[in-house]
Amino acid sequence: MNDVSPIARDLHARAAVRALVASEIREVANAGLGDPDILAFWFGEPDEVTPAYIRDAAVASINAGETFYTQNFGIPELRDAIATYVSRLHRPIASSKVAVTASGMSALMLTIEALVEPGDRVVCVTPLWPNLTEIPKILGADVVRVALEFGRTGWTLDVERLLSALTPGTRAVMINSPNNPTGWTIPREAQQTILEHCRRHGIWIVADDVYERLYYATAGKDMTCAPSFLDLADPDERLVSVNSFSKAWLMTGWRLGWIAAPPALMPDLGKLIEYNTSCSPVFVQRAGVVAIRDGEPTVLHTLERFRAARDFLVAELSRIEGVHAALPSGAMYVFFRVDGVTDSLAFCKRLVREAQLGLAPGSAFGPEGQGFVRWCFAAGQDRLAEGVRRLEAFLDR
Ligand SMILES: Cc1ncc(COP(=O)(O)O)c(C=O)c1O
Repeated sequence: MNDVSPIARDLHARAAVRALVASEIREVANAGLGDPDILAFWFGEPDEVTPAYIRDAAVASINAGETFYTQNFGIPELRDAIATYVSRLHRPIASSKVAVTASGMSALMLTIEALVEPGDRVVCVTPLWPNLTEIPKILGADVVRVALEFGRTGWTLDVERLLSALTPGTRAVMINSPNNPTGWTIPREAQQTILEHCRRHGIWIVADDVYERLYYATAGKDMTCAPSFLDLADPDERLVSVNSFSKAWLMTGWRLGWIAAPPALMPDLGKLIEYNTSCSPVFVQRAGVVAIRDGEPTVLHTLERFRAARDFLVAELSRIEGVHAALPSGAMYVFFRVDGVTDSLAFCKRLVREAQLGLAPGSAFGPEGQGFVRWCFAAGQDRLAEGVRRLEAFLDR
C-alpha cells in the first residue's frame, strides 16, 4: 500500500454523502438478524402479495417479448392511465404533465435534483421518513425542520410556525401527507394558506402523496382520497406531486411511481430521467396500467383492511398503561409514545433481543420522534395481537 498516492488512498465519498444518516430502522433490524421468531412491524410494507390480475399483466408483457427500453416519461398507455386517474381524483391533468418513474423514491430524488441547488433552503414538516429529509442534503441543500405537535387527539401542525419558516428565498417545502410516520393528514384550510404563502414568495411545494389513498376519514366511499395540493393549485404553479404504486396497489417490490409537474419542468425532468434510470421496466409499466385502470377494488379493499387493523392496534395499545397512541387519520403506522423511554433506538433494540418484537425507533424520523416508536399495522389481526402481547409482557417486567 506504500506506493499508493495520498489522493488515491482517500476512497471516501464526498462530504455531503458521508454526512447522511444511516437508517436506524436497519440498525434495529440488524440487531435481530438470524432470529426466525422475531415478529417484525418495522418496515412500511403491506403484507399481501400483489393481486394476480396485476402480476399477470407483467408476465404477459414479458412473454410477448417486451424486454426493451421505453420512452423516458413512460409508455403512453401508462401516462394516459395515470392522467385519467389523477383527473378523476383531483383535477384535469394532461398526460404530458405526468412522468412515470422507477419508484416513488426515484420520483422524489428526480424532483429534488430538478429543483434544488447547493445552499438552498428546503423546509420539511417533521417527524418524517428520513429518505425525504436526506435527499436534499445529497444535493447540498440546508434542511430546516418544522415539527408537528403530539397531543391527545393526535398530531397537529402549527401553520403559523411553518409559514414563519417559509422565509422569502426558501426554495421548497416538502410535505408528506398522510405522513410517514405519524399518519398526520394536512387539513384543506392549511393547504390553502400554505399554497397562498408559497405563491407570494415563489416557493416550490413538493407534495409526497404516496399515502393519499390510505386515508381513513372517508373510508367506505368510492374513490376516497386525502386532501391534495393538486386539488387547489393551478396547473402552472410551483407544485410537484409525487406518487407511487407501492402502497395502495400492494406493489412495493415493483418500483413504480410517478410525478405530476407543471409543463415548464417537464423537459428538464425528462433529461434527469434519462441520466438516472432512462425509463422504468416496460413489463412493470404494463402491470401499472392494469393496476391503475382496474385496481380500484384493490385500493378500497386495502383501505378497509388497514382501517380495521389501525382501529384494533390503537385500541389494544391504549389499554397498556404508559403507552400513548392516537388514531392516525392516514398511512399505515401508529406512532406512539412510551412513558420512560428516552432513547427509542436502545428501546427498540431491547425489544428485538428480549421480546422478539420488531418496531421502528421514533428517532429514525428525526429528533422530534425521540421517545416514540413506529408500528406498521399493515398486518393480520393475529400477528398484531401477538405483537401487543409481547410488548405488554416486556413492559410488565
Ligand atoms: C413517505 C413516503 N414517500 C415515498 C415512499 C416511496 O415509496 P416507493 O419508493 O416504494 O415507491 C415511501 C415508502 O415507504 C414513503 O413512506
